Amino acid sequence: MFSPKKRKRRVTRQRQRRRRRDHRVTAHSRPEERGVDFFGPSVAKYWRQRYSLFSRFDDGILMDEEGWYSVTPEAIAAAHAARATSLAGRGCPLVLDGFAGVGGNAIQFASRGCHVVAVDIDPRKIGFAVHNAKIYGVEDRIDFVTGDFFRLAPRLKGDILFLSPPWGGPSYRDFRSYTLDLLMPRDGYSIFQLAQQITPNIIMFLPRNVNLNQVEELSWLSSPPLKFEIEANHVQTKVKAITAYFGDIAAGSSGLSKICSGVTS
Ligand SMILES: C[S@@+](CC[C@H](N)C(=O)[O-])C[C@H]1O[C@@H](n2cnc3c(N)ncnc32)[C@H](O)[C@@H]1O
Repeated sequence: MFSPKKRKRRVTRQRQRRRRRDHRVTAHSRPEERGVDFFGPSVAKYWRQRYSLFSRFDDGILMDEEGWYSVTPEAIAAAHAARATSLAGRGCPLVLDGFAGVGGNAIQFASRGCHVVAVDIDPRKIGFAVHNAKIYGVEDRIDFVTGDFFRLAPRLKGDILFLSPPWGGPSYRDFRSYTLDLLMPRDGYSIFQLAQQITPNIIMFLPRNVNLNQVEELSWLSSPPLKFEIEANHVQTKVKAITAYFGDIAAGSSGLSKICSGVTS
């Protein structure tokens, strides 16, 4: 038997050990315990950024491996949503999210009062998106659709089309200049051409190393060319991505490109 003093010291040491273990960020730490899938060290990096991905992460946000590295950081998604609500004459625009993933953008659009149609080809992602939207209390403003955007596009409508197609995984960083043919599952030109059949008001979320001349060329696929604006999206001091705005949602005049500072959080 331990004396009360020794027992107290023992319990304190146990608690300290437990706290240290819980704060250690390794692939074996909390993601697994929390029921979030375990995918090895690649996810550990994103685990550290969990609150910048979803501020309400601790309420039970769920993601798969692709979700971890492809979800739009919340502050950037909130900026996209703020821009969507600025579309003149459309109090509450209908936003079509063609590649919705685990819901990072759809949730922010809905949080700003937009009605959202969120499409993803992967039923598991849609399952996570529904779950995550419930955490933010916005599931009623989102219609979730499991399906292939390219097949569904001819039947889809929206005031704004948000496009966040896969960049091909974290290896997108290896390219000095990321060209639009690297976008998945089709090249950026094909995606954009299809998108224009739905609406000219398009928001495209792209890698930070994307070839900006090619992005500007997309606006020329329309006659007359669409208004066009480029924004660099920051999280803290780092440029995380590039957002291109086309049509009435762009601040620039036809053919004009400008780099402006994005979001800080
Ligand atoms: C970059 S992620 C989107 C992340 C999302 N913006 C978010 O914040 O959660 C791209 C998504 O496109 C989906 N996808 C790939 N091909 C698709 C297709 N043909 N139609 C619809 N979704 C597709 C993938 O399943 C993936 O979830």
